[in-house]
Amino acid sequence: MTALPNLTSRIKVPIQRNPYEVVIRNQGLKSAGEELIATGIKKGTKCLIVSNPEVAEKYAQTLISSLIESGFDSTILVLEAGEEQKTLEGISQIHDAAVDAKIERGSIMIALGGGVVGDMTGFAAATWLRGISFVQVPTTLLAMVDASVGGKTGVNHSRGKNLIGAFHQPKIVLIDPYTLKSLPDREFRAGMAEVIKYGVIGDKRLFEILENISSLDSLNNLNDNQLKEIIERSVTAKANIVAKDELESGIRAILNYGHTFGHVIENLCGYGNYLHGEAVAIGMLAIGELALIKKNWKKEDAIRQYNLIKKVKLPTRWPDLDLDKVLPVLMGDKKVKDGNLRFIMPKTIGNVEIRDDISKTDIEKFLSRINF
Ligand SMILES: NC(=O)c1ccc[n+]([C@@H]2O[C@H](COP(=O)([O-])OP(=O)(O)OC[C@H]3O[C@@H](n4cnc5c(N)ncnc54)[C@H](O)[C@@H]3O)[C@@H](O)[C@H]2O)c1
Ligand SMILES: [Zn+2]
Repeated sequence: MTALPNLTSRIKVPIQRNPYEVVIRNQGLKSAGEELIATGIKKGTKCLIVSNPEVAEKYAQTLISSLIESGFDSTILVLEAGEEQKTLEGISQIHDAAVDAKIERGSIMIALGGGVVGDMTGFAAATWLRGISFVQVPTTLLAMVDASVGGKTGVNHSRGKNLIGAFHQPKIVLIDPYTLKSLPDREFRAGMAEVIKYGVIGDKRLFEILENISSLDSLNNLNDNQLKEIIERSVTAKANIVAKDELESGIRAILNYGHTFGHVIENLCGYGNYLHGEAVAIGMLAIGELALIKKNWKKEDAIRQYNLIKKVKLPTRWPDLDLDKVLPVLMGDKKVKDGNLRFIMPKTIGNVEIRDDISKTDIEKFLSRINF
């Protein structure tokens, strides 16, 4: 990757109460302290940074130096990385650190890391002293374009992902695309699955931009402007949907495009085997197939989606799953409405709809023939 231009983009997340900004700036970690001051966080405020080893080792010092320079008092807690750490025990560790660091009502927590750190820190902040402010500093593509924006925080329960949680919006999201340089390609590709999702659910132009980039399987193949545009368009799409439906009582559900079948894969294949984005990629192909059967979209659109996912070198094959196990997982999914299965189904590239009318029999038939 060549040096990124030092331009700053500011995207508003225009929710009614406490709207906030997503600031995208290369090397933005160096000016994190100034950004916090600009959002109204006072000098001298105590900050508890939560991170994990790979990220802390590379980026914590830059962040801490910037905070100190701006007059903040910061402490860091480094948690082990990984989805298996996203539990209530992990939250207890953050709360213990909050006791030690004397984190008060006016203090803040800062998530420096991927979606796991972001979801956990947000939930720890939502529950500490009945809710203190927090800041997202996402360092994976997935966390930049998805997890850090929108205020969904939480941890997993042994019976399912993200079952324990709270809506708690950050004060600001600071994205430094420069941090992606150290992200493994596999993690980059998993984040690209969510980027493709935004293209299909609402930003046709984003989808076309991706189609026009010759190679998408590694960050090294993107130039600075392409990367910036991809992050900007994705964040904008998410911000606009969240603003229409902050608490997910309606339209926000479209962000779950590809996730219903994706969760089946994550659940039945064990959380270590597929990254979240990889499962979502296969989930988008599965719902794309179902949409074809239901004549909800054209074959050429389904092929475009397949080709893009393939270009990113995301997995494209439905795993060999025991049919008897798939349906209970689908029915147990949070996206079941009034006993019916709910799917976010594509209509064209750039447009999806919520369908609550897909019967169990339809699904059984579909799953018994699934072959891609
Ligand atoms: N809250 C939401 O709205 C939302 C949306 C989507 C996903 N999520 C959640 O996000 C989580 C997945 O997030 P993720 O994909 O970021 O995974 P992650 O947080 O597990 O990070 C992936 C790995 O990359 C490492 N890493 C992070 N940044 C790095 C960097 N810059 N350089 C090198 N290594 C780096 C991490 O240490 C980790 O090992 C899931 O738990 C999912 O449920 C939440
Ligand atoms: Zn997702």
